[in-house]
Amino acid sequence: MTPAPVVRSKRELRAEIAEATAGGRSVGLVPTMGYLHDGHLSLLRAARERCGFVVMSLFVNPTQFGEDEDLAEYPRAEERDLALAGEAGVDLVFAPDVEEVYPEGFATYVAVEGLTEVLDGDPARRGAEHFRGVTTVVAKLLNIVGPDSLYLGQKDAQQALVIRRMARDLDFPAEVVVVPTVREPDGLAMSSRNAYLDARERTRATGLWRALETVRDAAGGGASVDRALDAGRAILADAGVEAEYLEARHADDLTPAESFNGRPVLVAVAARVGGARLIDNVVVGPTDRSE
Ligand code: PAJ
Repeated sequence: MTPAPVVRSKRELRAEIAEATAGGRSVGLVPTMGYLHDGHLSLLRAARERCGFVVMSLFVNPTQFGEDEDLAEYPRAEERDLALAGEAGVDLVFAPDVEEVYPEGFATYVAVEGLTEVLDGDPARRGAEHFRGVTTVVAKLLNIVGPDSLYLGQKDAQQALVIRRMARDLDFPAEVVVVPTVREPDGLAMSSRNAYLDARERTRATGLWRALETVRDAAGGGASVDRALDAGRAILADAGVEAEYLEARHADDLTPAESFNGRPVLVAVAARVGGARLIDNVVVGPTDRSE
């Protein structure tokens, strides 16, 4: 398979897209930070099935990393990513350098309020600035590419909600498509950051998914939110994983969930395992309840 073609400038990208759309092709955008795994590939496949022209962006976005976060260590493997993107049928990869995205004097940000202040956006965790970096770069990509549809992963459920809200509030016409989380055989959600885990940490990391399954099953068995979360916390403790949070919130607006009987509930977990900060989630719907 030949690697996907790559452009580095907005000018080249716009010219290629103008040609594709002049030919009547619909455009799908899959934003990534690279170091592709099967989760990314499932987004690319979803875009490939629905769109005439698939653009993948590959950009490790500095504005979404906090000062004490892993920007410098973030894993990169561009050649391999281009080969995988080619195999997945990507028509064009946009891989700009930092100056192309954030020219000297850059001073304009897009921030979604409310949704970005809980879970990962809590000031004691990554903070709302993290999401401000995400929405700013995704808004720019939407402006440059002008896609008909945008593909995001449920793995980053809060990110997908925040981007969906931004697109609605700022009238970006792209349809936002959220693709289910792709997991390793033992349940660990695929993530570029799993590369940081050594063998023992990799085993401990399975505690996140086992805790979420436990919460989901407890909810299915009729447990209250508090009891279900307690059962999940016991699994985390048993796995030697100290969670930053394990919380139940309404899946559509991230307000705290008091019961599993009403609206769908997002059960979200974040934990540091060795050098990796991992997140995962499951949505529990009222139909998952046995009673
Ligand atoms: P990145 O972590 O590279 O993820 C790119 C996309 O892949 C995101 O939409 C993410 O939710 C999705 N993804 C990651 N792991 C997944 C999995 N196991 N299953 C399904 N989808 C998965 O998320 C980002 O980059 C950045 O914040 C970005 C949106 C590109 C903005 O910089």
